[in-house]
Amino acid sequence: MNKALIRTIDLVKIYGAGESAVRALNGVNLAVTPGEFVAVMGPSGCGKSTLLNLLGALDQPTEGEVWVAGENLAHIKDVDAFRARTVGFVFQLHNLIPTLTAWENVEVPMEGQSLGKKERRERAAHLLELVGLGDRLDALPGQLSGGQRQRVAVARALANDPALILADEPTGSLDSQSGEEIMALLTKLNRDQGTTILVVTHDRRVAQSARRIVRMKDGQIVGDHRLDNPLEEDLRMLAASRLGQLILDGDENQADYLSSEERECLRKILARVA
Ligand SMILES: Nc1ncnc2c1ncn2[C@@H]1O[C@H](COP(=O)(O)OP(=O)(O)OP(=O)(O)O)[C@@H](O)[C@H]1O
Ligand SMILES: [Mg+2]
Repeated sequence: MNKALIRTIDLVKIYGAGESAVRALNGVNLAVTPGEFVAVMGPSGCGKSTLLNLLGALDQPTEGEVWVAGENLAHIKDVDAFRARTVGFVFQLHNLIPTLTAWENVEVPMEGQSLGKKERRERAAHLLELVGLGDRLDALPGQLSGGQRQRVAVARALANDPALILADEPTGSLDSQSGEEIMALLTKLNRDQGTTILVVTHDRRVAQSARRIVRMKDGQIVGDHRLDNPLEEDLRMLAASRLGQLILDGDENQADYLSSEERECLRKILARVA
């Protein structure tokens, strides 16, 4: 299956049956190569979480195929082992086990893998240090802030050094600073370790961390853009817009809701990309 880490073929997912059936995915073809950082965007109910669940073998398609790391998920015998080996999940509601400490939560996915008890504990502590929680190893989820819990969830997703991280609105329940920290963490992983990341988000700022934006609507992919430099891409659009033209032309009167400093600053930036 060539070099794709993820490949879906004519993926269809129908929930329920008869009159109440919902066609959540309606022919999705997506290929993601190793090392990509992909944001999946689209309106509520368009099938983003459904797609992620199928990619992570949390659910099965009604029709079509999902291939991950060269394996057809429909033919995998031990799905739990596949997930533990290949995929790290981060969800909006981080679903940590409330009765286990941060440390123990991160150890859970390593159980049944090759590491011994001592190595597991050491690795879990190391991962929690990596996400900035080295001093909260023994805290229960209830004793942590939302952002800290989400960081535990990221550490847990990294437990088995997965090739792929699937994140479903990982910043959705966080304040903007914690959200930025989580995204910075994912960006660093992608850049330093080449971890492939697929993140579902409604947040444009989150999507700017990604190098590729896949847009969905009504169970289908309706847009797929690779950005070499997302910010630059935005600036180009602004430069091409009427407001951009006014600023570039130095037309003081028509862009008068900007201060003169703002106008000058924007003019300099836009002149570079125009
Ligand atoms: N378990 C389920 N049973 C029945 N219908 C479902 C189920 N899960 C999702 N759906 C329906 O499938 C469609 C796609 O849902 P999905 O959760 O994938 O959307 P989404 O893009 O993740 O939306 P959001 O941005 O709100 O999270 C929706 O119409 C939803 O109501
Ligand atoms: Mg969703």
